[in-house]
Amino acid sequence: MDALNQRAHHAVQTWLRAAQRCSLGLPPAFPFREVTAAIRRHGSAALPSAVNNALIEAAARAEELAGRPPARSWFAARWLWSATAGARGSPSYDAYVMCGLLNQYCQGAGDFRANARALGTALTADLLGHELAQHCAEFTRPRTRAAVHLAADLRRAVRGTASPPAAGPDPGSGAGTGTDADTADGIDPAKEPGLEPADALRLCERLVSVVQRSQSPQLRTVLAYTPLVVTTEHDEYLFIRSIQIMELLSSLAASHAQEALECADRDAVPELLVHLEGLRSTLDHSARLFHIVATVDPVQFAGIRDATYGTGALQSPAFAALERLCRGAEALRPETSAAVPADRQPCPATSLSSALEELLGRVDEETAARLAGTAAAVDQQWLRWKRAHHGVARRIIGDVPGTGGTLGITYLAEYMHTPLLTRHAEPAGSAPRAEPGGPS
Ligand code: HEM
Repeated sequence: MDALNQRAHHAVQTWLRAAQRCSLGLPPAFPFREVTAAIRRHGSAALPSAVNNALIEAAARAEELAGRPPARSWFAARWLWSATAGARGSPSYDAYVMCGLLNQYCQGAGDFRANARALGTALTADLLGHELAQHCAEFTRPRTRAAVHLAADLRRAVRGTASPPAAGPDPGSGAGTGTDADTADGIDPAKEPGLEPADALRLCERLVSVVQRSQSPQLRTVLAYTPLVVTTEHDEYLFIRSIQIMELLSSLAASHAQEALECADRDAVPELLVHLEGLRSTLDHSARLFHIVATVDPVQFAGIRDATYGTGALQSPAFAALERLCRGAEALRPETSAAVPADRQPCPATSLSSALEELLGRVDEETAARLAGTAAAVDQQWLRWKRAHHGVARRIIGDVPGTGGTLGITYLAEYMHTPLLTRHAEPAGSAPRAEPGGPS
């Protein structure tokens, strides 16, 4: 065992002794720092069995002591469940991405959507800062350019000014990947006046600290001790953080979809339009993040895939919730139903798309046109996300099967043009269909 592993082992043993004595009251503080340091150095798949065994024992004890949020102890139990999933032989998407833990944090004190927005901002700033801190001087580097671009997005979002329209090719269509498309990737530094990489890094650091000060102390713990990497590949941090942020955005989108459904039931059109706009802008943010995911190194990704087999995003609870709320039973494909069973993530009695269709028949022509236009704008972002995801997957894994057991990009291509809310073909303004092998 090296020094980091020894320190982690010793700290967990000490915690276990204190936790065994503790029957009532606050459990001792778990040594997250020591264990996270060992995992980040070696990858959780390479932890020595002595450390794994101590962690598994700690996970069982933390589970017994776990209180309900906002108590500190629920976090240790959830975190240890993730940290030990591989060693227990139960790897899963939730354990890897820690999406249940993030969701639990957002369900804590206060409003879910406000917490999710704050956490999403902090995670994005952390991700961009993590990448910019290492390569700040290289503005020509695709990842640095993508990070600066996304930092400018964050600045606009925090200032409350709208993002510029999503012009140019989709992320993943070669954007920021060192290909010919770089000159037209929508990440032109000239469009981000005054934002040099060093400025973007400072902005991200400031944002993290501002959000931390405005939220519960637990946010600091979430930021510092997630993600838990399985390998030593540099890009795994970027990969997991991106998925965490998109999961959070999907939960946010699903929450807007749920409220929109309730508004449609009550014919509350103005409120409904607000939630549809919330859904649209959340999907827009999510699609933009693919600018940086597109820079993941395919060779490193192959190593990550090998070490995380069976933990694919087909198991994503938030995407399943969003798609099922919007499309109802039509969203149940054999692959998604197997990965997220309908009893765990049920379809509503009436989907949002059906509720909207019925509402269009009850309102005047002008209102119907506004509603239809807003629904089409939601679909435009949904399809943009799908195209970007497909483009990134094609660049990074080519035509090998997906980790979820599908045919990979062939599966993604099959559903790439399926809208979320509108029933007919492509919504107005969306990009033309990709030719097989062409840009998505
Ligand atoms: C390195 C980048 C990525 C690659 C190579 C990739 C690849 C794939 C593949 C091949 C599938 C098909 C299912 C399977 O068999 O696994 C898939 C599905 C999926 N991926 Fe990704 N993905 C990437 C990034 C992401 C990110 C950042 C997210 C955000 C959460 C994401 C979310 C999803 C979702 C929700 C599905 C299910 C889609 C559906 O059933 O329609 N992926 N991905």
